[in-house]
Amino acid sequence: MAGFFIPNFKKHSLKTKILMVCLGNICRSPLAHGILENMLDSNKFEVQSAGTGAWHVGNKPDPRSIEVAAKNNIDISRQRAKQFSTYDFEIYDFIFVMDKSNFRDVIKLAKTPQEIEKVSLILDSTHPGQDKEVPDPYYGGEHGFKQAYDLLYKACEKIVSSGSFS
Ligand code: 4NP
Repeated sequence: MAGFFIPNFKKHSLKTKILMVCLGNICRSPLAHGILENMLDSNKFEVQSAGTGAWHVGNKPDPRSIEVAAKNNIDISRQRAKQFSTYDFEIYDFIFVMDKSNFRDVIKLAKTPQEIEKVSLILDSTHPGQDKEVPDPYYGGEHGFKQAYDLLYKACEKIVSSGSFS
């Protein structure tokens, strides 16, 4: 029948959806989530985060991430950790990972080349072609969290200004 409307059930909304991924979803990706969300119009974009591991599912971000974000006027305290799943490839348009091990773990779950294409190292934005990683600050001191914040802030600025989402 002409004009018959077939809804796209896979695309859950008209917003562009972006997922930040790290290992535990309590240190780096919650920061990336909060920073990028703060830079984008929430009517047009949805930002989320997840971890490739399940240890911290349901937990708040690490207090050191909450603190460095708060010092920069970003509240990430209401985030809760989730585990990345193969279904996320259907939900999200862009998937940014923090390091090469996250990259391998995420693309293992992809079913098509189009799904793999959604995934990139977040620091490819500021350091193209260098395979640069956001160091995992979990086992270190506060300096690592500040370093992660600074790297991620610059990366998100670059991603937004380069028009990657248009
Ligand atoms: P994240 O840091 O991947 O930046 O959230 C980590 C947090 C927890 C663990 C590892 C990394 N962990 O092994 O529990």
